[in-house]
Amino acid sequence: MKIRLCYSSQRNDEGDDLLQDLRDILTEARDFNTRHQIYGVLYYADNAFFQCLEGEKNAVERIFEKIIADSRHHSVKHISSYVIEQFSFKKWSMKYVQRETNIEYFFLQLGENNFNPSCLNEQSLTPFLQELLIAEQSKIPVGLKKVGMLNRGVNPF
Ligand SMILES: Cc1cc2nc3c(=O)[nH]c(=O)nc-3n(C[C@H](O)[C@H](O)[C@H](O)COP(=O)(O)O)c2cc1C
Repeated sequence: MKIRLCYSSQRNDEGDDLLQDLRDILTEARDFNTRHQIYGVLYYADNAFFQCLEGEKNAVERIFEKIIADSRHHSVKHISSYVIEQFSFKKWSMKYVQRETNIEYFFLQLGENNFNPSCLNEQSLTPFLQELLIAEQSKIPVGLKKVGMLNRGVNPF
């Protein structure tokens, strides 16, 4: 049985390097998910994660147990799990989308000034997933020094 599971969480930012954390998470996720036919999308902004996992029920539930216990985030809130006929994110072992205007606008319309995935419910989840499906996949810059980012006052994440 195929399912889609969605959750939100808050990043643990105790002095760690955000870009390195994201790179590590995506490397682990893509490697494991490829081997276990799991697909999905991860969005990160404003210290919050949203992730959608698709795959066989047992495989998704098993990896979700591990993800819940991961110390790189906390306050994991399970939003929804439901049976699906087809995978929407089959092109990606884990698509990554970084902060983007359409999604900021989507949350503004929900009355949220920041990216606050914990406010998503059964009703708002489907259009949000649609936004993530059509969004461009983002690459995490390699070898970018923290200093460079901070000096420019730019933090796209
Ligand atoms: C926000 C977030 C999303 C993650 N997504 C996945 C994922 O999709 N697939 C995966 O295998 N690991 C994912 N991980 C990493 C797992 O939590 C865990 O580190 C990994 O499965 C290795 O666990 P192990 O060392 O116990 O085998 C994610 C971690 C975080 C913090």
